[in-house]
Amino acid sequence: MKISQLKLGEKILFGIVALLLVFAVLSFVMLEIYRSRLNHPMYPATTTFDFTPIGKHGSELFRDRGCTDCHRALRNGTNHGVTLDGVGSKRSLNYLINFLKRPEATYETKTVDHGLNKEAAYVAGLPDTELHDMAVFLSELKATQGSPDAELPMPERSGFVDEMVKIWAPDTWKAERHDLRQDAMKPNNERP
Ligand code: HEC
Repeated sequence: MKISQLKLGEKILFGIVALLLVFAVLSFVMLEIYRSRLNHPMYPATTTFDFTPIGKHGSELFRDRGCTDCHRALRNGTNHGVTLDGVGSKRSLNYLINFLKRPEATYETKTVDHGLNKEAAYVAGLPDTELHDMAVFLSELKATQGSPDAELPMPERSGFVDEMVKIWAPDTWKAERHDLRQDAMKPNNERP
């Protein structure tokens, strides 16, 4: 079919699609050129890991036992479950071991997949040594404080956040809850 045989509406429609396509390709090329000229990564890495031999073994188990079907860690896996990058800054090794063995008794809210007759029920039935090694692996996934994966916000005070809390947080909150930022300076094992 020749272009001249198209109706006006069709020409406009295809024209818009073609423009969008050109725009997308151009943006991609420009972004890649920009990225190739940077001498640092475009986004800083905020999850770090330093594996012990047990942690390394745990990371292999994590992949082989189907955890990556639902979880993502170190850029592997999917986003169906929770991302576990940085989980070692949020949870202690003890918590992780307990969660893997007795998810429903450990998790603070109802679980979706871990637990009896749920999709990840098999996890609690894996040998203790495997669960231990995977928990060690997860406990070694640390996140930089203040990054999206980290539990604790940035150490510096933010005037904006202080102001927002003052305006919007009901007074009862101040009595019932405590400010996470005050924990930021404490060592890991003294946090609640
Ligand atoms: C069918 C999907 C699925 C599979 C498979 C799965 N998980 Fe999970 N996992 C989840 C979901 C969803 C959650 C959030 C809790 C819940 O709702 O069960 C979770 C939570 C967790 C948590 C708790 C995180 C926290 O901060 O409390 C850990 C640790 C964990 N999974 C480890 C594993 C390991 C290790 C494996 C493999 C042996 C695994 N999971 C397999 C879906 C899955």
